[in-house]
Amino acid sequence: MERRVPGSEQMNWLRAALLAALISSCAVISSAEDRAIPLNQLRSGSEFLSPELRALQADAFANPGMLWVERGAKLWSTPAGSAGQSCASCHQDAAKTMRGVAASYPRVDAKSGFLLNVEARINQCRSERQAVAPFRYESDDLLSLTAYVNSFSKDYKINVVIDGNAETYFEAGRTLYYRRSGQMNLSCAQCHEENWGKNLYAERISQGHPNAYPAYRMEWQSMGSLERRLRACLSGVRAEMLPYGAQEYRNLALFLAWRAQGLPMESPGIRR
Ligand code: HEC
Ligand code: HEC
Repeated sequence: MERRVPGSEQMNWLRAALLAALISSCAVISSAEDRAIPLNQLRSGSEFLSPELRALQADAFANPGMLWVERGAKLWSTPAGSAGQSCASCHQDAAKTMRGVAASYPRVDAKSGFLLNVEARINQCRSERQAVAPFRYESDDLLSLTAYVNSFSKDYKINVVIDGNAETYFEAGRTLYYRRSGQMNLSCAQCHEENWGKNLYAERISQGHPNAYPAYRMEWQSMGSLERRLRACLSGVRAEMLPYGAQEYRNLALFLAWRAQGLPMESPGIRR
């Protein structure tokens, strides 16, 4: 009897390992099937722009979004709060410490369990580490610092975590994406998965990826966040407008990032 114990433990271990391998391969298969747009068919929104706007985005001297990036660079080393610390006091040279960071956002903050986008992360440092008021949503300060941080992820491929403590947020985002809403009773998917490439009024519908944001939009004559873009889509279908910072936008943003997994970051993008 006693000699069989180690043997059966080994059996249990083997069975557990097999099960784990099976479960993880199932997960891979099911998430690949869940992708309405296969990874090798992803197309950035910039591919749907006119040649003029695409050229403007590519030209770092002419791209108006660079004004926000430059302003962000100044803010980075501007002290705030009674300790007189700037972002640079802790993070030093952003070109080194922020490289590729934004490509993995939205991301769950391990301590609080909250899903944070880059804007929320910056404001978390403002309130918790500098002990000053967070920047207002869509303020030039927040857009500038976000554009600055994101600029160090340019050409980095989007790569977000959706399992573990991110899973609930991800699933909530996915549900929202496929839910019909507004007076027009349309889901995000009906435009960006079923009808991309087609014209809607004066616009060509893209696959609806988040990789260009914050982006300078001609219609706004300004830089705007991904949330501002999502609000434009919601108002387009006459749906209820959620306030900036709403959890729903972050959940959606995580789902959007996963849909765009592998697509290079472009911020500051130019959009129509
Ligand atoms: C009635 C069609 C329609 C619906 C529904 C819609 N959008 Fe859009 N969306 C557009 C159009 C038009 C644009 C601007 C052109 C483009 O990039 O597709 C756009 C742009 C976007 C962009 C920016 C793409 C880029 O590269 O700049 C994202 C992200 C996006 N939508 C996400 C969503 C999400 C998430 C939903 C659901 C909450 C949604 N959209 C619902 C039509 C729609
Ligand atoms: C007193 C030090 C301190 C200051 C000042 C500070 N931060 Fe942070 N910041 C941190 C620490 C520590 C972390 C890591 C937090 C964690 O992982 O829980 C962090 C994380 C971040 C991250 C996420 C990095 C990643 O790899 O995910 C960003 C972006 C960021 N800070 C931006 C800023 C900006 C912008 C400012 C200025 C407005 C700023 N921080 C000011 C200490 C600071």
